[in-house]
Amino acid sequence: MNRRRRFSLLLAGLVVCVLAPVIQGRKAPNIFADTPAGTSVADAGRLDWWRDARFGLFIHWGPISLKGTEISWSRANSNPLCPNKGDIPVEVYDNLYKSFNPTLFDADRWAAMAKEAGMRYVVLTAKHCDGFCLWRSAESDHHIGLSPFQRDICGELAEAVRKAGLRIGWYYSPMDWRDPDCRTERNAAYVKRMQGQIRELVTRYGRIDVLWFDWDGGTIPWDQAATYRIVRQAQPSIIINNRLDCSFGGLSADRDMGPNADYLTPEQVIGAYNDRQPWETCMTLGTQWSWKPDDRIKSVDEVIRILAGCAGGDGNLLLNVGPEPSGRIEPRQVDVLKGVGAWLDRNGASIYGTRGGPFKPGRYGASTRRDNLIYLHVFAWDGPSLKLPGISSKVVGSRLLGGGRVSVRQTENGLDISVPAGDRHPADTVVVLELDGPAARLPAMDVPGQALK
Ligand code: GLC
Repeated sequence: MNRRRRFSLLLAGLVVCVLAPVIQGRKAPNIFADTPAGTSVADAGRLDWWRDARFGLFIHWGPISLKGTEISWSRANSNPLCPNKGDIPVEVYDNLYKSFNPTLFDADRWAAMAKEAGMRYVVLTAKHCDGFCLWRSAESDHHIGLSPFQRDICGELAEAVRKAGLRIGWYYSPMDWRDPDCRTERNAAYVKRMQGQIRELVTRYGRIDVLWFDWDGGTIPWDQAATYRIVRQAQPSIIINNRLDCSFGGLSADRDMGPNADYLTPEQVIGAYNDRQPWETCMTLGTQWSWKPDDRIKSVDEVIRILAGCAGGDGNLLLNVGPEPSGRIEPRQVDVLKGVGAWLDRNGASIYGTRGGPFKPGRYGASTRRDNLIYLHVFAWDGPSLKLPGISSKVVGSRLLGGGRVSVRQTENGLDISVPAGDRHPADTVVVLELDGPAARLPAMDVPGQALK
């Protein structure tokens, strides 16, 4: 392992160890503590496809891509009750849509890219905090129909994604930093428009699978009960994240969820092991949500480890790209996604349809399980072999996914796994252990000496 890789592993470990407990909230009251492991709070059946999918595409896009600065956050503040204080004057930011003409936008191409990456669902910023709607909204004066492009991006993408056999979801910001009424004494008028917009998004485009609300850390006067009702009445099977009614301070938005939410949303970190509440890490492929020229892009190997880390913690990964203002997705980003897809073609059995554990993620990597199998995802070998704690099942077979030699020694004290250096994979060596019984019955356990520091 070279120094850079060792450093990035160390850094990733640090982030997971220091931030994950804060984000997943050890101290927060766990209102779902009685939920049996592996069961979603609201309705296990409804979330099944989503859990099995494990990997989705997040897309942050809008007229701001013309500037290459961060979506919404780079807009100057026009409402003291909103937290943004970007450099781009309001008159400039709010007029960008007049030059937004993404003639290279091709929804089928985006959907094909997601599919080739091995992603199973797509979530688009239908409306970010800057208030621009990527659909032709009758409830807004700031939408794609008023741009030179005019075409309904949400509509085209929903159709293309479904045609490709994937699921579609909307990111929707209940905050609207441009709307003069939002969070003011006239907020009720804004909320009517907001609910109207949400109604459009969940009634116009056929089946919508996910609704991804955001939260900016401010007050949440969004008439939540009625807003949830609008969504769930129109889309009984929809899955909704936990950010519409975050009533906690700071990052603890990701700690717990209200009774109407379906999953937690750790952001830019791999969530800590949690098989009681569904969760999804959202993370950028570069360093910004919307398009940034010459951004640093994560490598294929990094993304593989992040994905396996999420699956090993029993969560999903929603990986974000920010398309260019032309509608094209940067070729080097597409290439990384292709690389991840190629890895999933060979190793998908260790990700899709699995649950995290039984060995909790650690410096060594992570583990996933399905049926009688445990998949060990080994990112880093400390020495000639990997030592794991004992399990009550007998290991009756072992192999490397994708071929190669592996030997497994099982004693009362634990497992000793060795793979010759030449057969180890630089990103993730996937060792399959076959057990004499279902892997799901093993408790989740820490791997001694492997704590993420
Ligand atoms: C953060 C950012 C927001 C982005 C979201 C995605 O909340 O502030 O801009 O859309 O993350 O998770």
